[in-house]
Amino acid sequence: MTVAISIINLKGGVGKTTLTVALAEFMAVQHGLKVLVIDLDPQTNATVSLMDQDEWKRHNVRGQTLVRLFRDYQENTRIFSVDEAIVHNASNIGGGITGLDLLPSSLDLIDIQDEIINIPSTGLISHRPLTLLGTAISEAMTAYDVVLIDCPPNLGLITQNGLILSQYYLIPVIPDILSTYGIPQIVSRISRLEKETGAHIQSLGVVINKYRQQNALHRNQVSILRLEADKVGYQRVFDTIIPENARAAAVMDYTLPGARIHNKYGYETPFTQYQNLTKEVLDLVLPGD
Ligand SMILES: Nc1ncnc2c1ncn2[C@@H]1O[C@H](COP(=O)(O)OP(=O)(O)OP(=O)(O)O)[C@@H](O)[C@H]1O
Ligand SMILES: [Mg+2]
Repeated sequence: MTVAISIINLKGGVGKTTLTVALAEFMAVQHGLKVLVIDLDPQTNATVSLMDQDEWKRHNVRGQTLVRLFRDYQENTRIFSVDEAIVHNASNIGGGITGLDLLPSSLDLIDIQDEIINIPSTGLISHRPLTLLGTAISEAMTAYDVVLIDCPPNLGLITQNGLILSQYYLIPVIPDILSTYGIPQIVSRISRLEKETGAHIQSLGVVINKYRQQNALHRNQVSILRLEADKVGYQRVFDTIIPENARAAAVMDYTLPGARIHNKYGYETPFTQYQNLTKEVLDLVLPGD
């Protein structure tokens, strides 16, 4: 069984991408799982932190990124090949992690969203625009234990394509007012999407990121988030809290050498936190594994 999890928040900069990359690397390295990261964000942060920039340029030139999939829909072509688009042995740890693959994004994805909404679904490819991604990759997905989807900070058509093929979503937040303000909106919009499409997309919970223990607002906000989990419907706040720390910030830099997972994440922070969080997530989505 493949489990797909969207990592989502409408607020930018809360740590969606950092968390996606860390979970993927810990799941693959420490649990031996086959993991696919799908980068749905035109900012391409997950892409450039998991693969070499030159290799990514070659992919882009050949047109084998997610942009091609959506362009096929617009232009009535069938050029996108999921097998060609997927990058194998992604990550800068040990020159690439066996079992960690990436479906890269492209800056051009930013144009697609507005254009595609106006295209009538007739002709060669007549799927509903919401299920384009799911339809294109469903077969390839079966080769993976876990699919992690790094979403852009919006709930547009491309994000919805990712949500629809997910059984779960995870909400990283910074525990301040602005970053947590939109959580009820995420939950209600996703539940509306479920009703409209018949998909089942369950919240796994909120992950606290960039936590500052000295900050009273942070401490207070974490308590409120724990109290409101049931009422708002995001299920839980994960026990593991990721503190603000320089190493977590450096995770995104592909050019930093890292022969082993400890070179990238250290031995304490944030290594321990990502290790524990990965276990918490896997206990929920792959119990008994
Ligand atoms: N625990 C942390 N401590 C310190 N810095 C962090 C931590 N987690 C993430 N960062 C840094 O914060 C910035 C935003 O993180 P990230 O890009 O993961 O957020 P995002 O939610 O994906 O943003 P966007 O909405 O732009 O896609 C990055 O510079 C990242 O390196
Ligand atoms: Mg991001």
